[in-house]
Parts: sequence; C-alpha cells; structure tokens
Amino acid sequence: MAVAFSVVFLAFIASALEPLSSQPQLQCSACLAIAELVGQKMNDTAKLKTTFQASHRLDARNKVKRIDYESSELRAYEILDGFCNELEKDYIFRLGENNLRLFSSNKSLTRANYYGKNDKKELRSVSKRLRDICNEITEEDDTKIISLIKKERYLDEFQQKLCFSEGFKCCGTKKVEASKEKERERREKWLELKKVKDEKIKARAEREKRKKEREEEEKKRREESCSTTVDYLLFHFIPFNLRVEHTW
Ligand SMILES: *[C@@H]1O[C@H](CO)[C@@H](O)[C@H](O)[C@H]1NC(C)=O
Ligand SMILES: *[C@@H]1O[C@H](CO)[C@@H](O)[C@H](O)[C@H]1NC(C)=O
Repeated sequence: MAVAFSVVFLAFIASALEPLSSQPQLQCSACLAIAELVGQKMNDTAKLKTTFQASHRLDARNKVKRIDYESSELRAYEILDGFCNELEKDYIFRLGENNLRLFSSNKSLTRANYYGKNDKKELRSVSKRLRDICNEITEEDDTKIISLIKKERYLDEFQQKLCFSEGFKCCGTKKVEASKEKERERREKWLELKKVKDEKIKARAEREKRKKEREEEEKKRREESCSTTVDYLLFHFIPFNLRVEHTW
C-alpha cells in the first residue's frame, strides 16, 4: 500500500514539473523564482494584519477560534491570484553570477545566451515554460504551496521547504547537480566556439585593414613618384639663370 502510494506520489511529482524536464537546474530556478515572488507578496500582505473569526466553535481554551489573516487560506489565494502573469513579466532568463543561467528579476544581470542550436531548441519559449511550471505549482497542485504560505514567514525557509524538502523537491537533487555540471560544460564549449569565431572575424578585419593600408601606401607612392617626375622635369627645363640652388 505504502509502496503503491509512493509510486503514485513520485509519478505525480515528476508530472508536476514536466516543462523543462531536460534541464532540471532550470526547473529548480523556476521554483526558487516562484518562492521569491510569493515571499515578496507574503511580506507585502503581512502588513495588512487583521484577524477574522474562523468559526463559532470554541477552542481548547474556551475561546472563539480566530485566525489571523497572515495564516489564512484567504491570504494565500489572494497572493496567488494573477501570480503567474506577474512572474512571467518580472523574471527573465538571465546569466547568474556563478555563470549558470536562471530566472531572475535582477536587472543588473545580463540576459542569457543560448549555447548553440540544440540548446536553443530545448529552451524554446523559455519564459512560457516558466509560466507553465508556475501554473502547475500554483493551480494544479496548490495545496502544498498554500499550506506553506500559511505557515512560513521567512523567505529562506519558504524556499527550502517549497523547492528542497516538502513541496516540489526540484532543487538540491543529484539530477539538478548533474545538470548544473552539464550546463557549465555547455557554456565552456559555446565560449570556445565563440572564441574561435571571434578570432576568425578579428583576423579577417585585420587582413582587410592591412590590405587597405597597403593600397593607401601604394597610392601615396604613386603620387610621390609622380611629383618626383615633375620636380625632375622642372629642374631640367628651367633656364640656367633661374636655377638659384645651383651655382657654378
Ligand atoms: C520578509 O522580509 C524580511 C525582511 O526583509 C525577510 O527577512 C523575510 O525573509 C521576508 N519573508 C518572506 C516570506 O519573503
Ligand atoms: C543583482 O546582481 C548584481 C550583480 O551580480 C549583484 O551585485 C546584486 O547583489 C544583485 N541584486 C540582488 C537584489 O540580488
């Protein structure tokens, strides 16, 4: 029974993050981005701290049970309302500080490059994939994220639980680490090819520059030799008495 359950559960996790499944490190980055933006909204809405009566039942201490807004389902739904649109707009595919590509809202990071044709194909409409992952986490499988929004208060713990341990477990796995390694190799290869290409372009520009210089020199030499001829003619055909520079 437990085995059957965990098999179903694992299948569920795997299908929950189908988009970008060939690049697990980006699935992880998508999850962290989602956690970051949810965290930001949690902090924004935490300021509206009010309590509301949850039910008419009395709790263990004979008090009417009241739920504060911060731990309520209502707040979670408000945070998730229109969430993926905002995420897609703010989180762009960029090159992170450690040379790994990620979804980030940090505008001082440059946009990421594709590392060749295959990579480009694999990451086709990458921001739409981010949105797909977002929809799956926040709509199709929302109970995990909602219970975490209700419980957690700090971003690092929220990210830890959503993406590493309790929720989607799409970060920190061997698969993710291996794909980071692959990503680094892909980048190295791309940089290597780019270097060769850039060098070729540079060499061609250099050749063209030299050719132009040679042509300029040639032109100047022709003009000079022409004016030497003129000097020569002038010297020989000017009457003797006007050749001031020669005295006999
Ligand atoms: C809310 O902001 C505080 C202070 O910047 C931060 O420590 C905390 O992690 C934030 N919480 C979430 C859920 O993002
Ligand atoms: C954004 O990226 C820059 C450059 O890597 C970094 O110095 C800065 O701390 C980042 N900002 C945030 C808010 O993470």
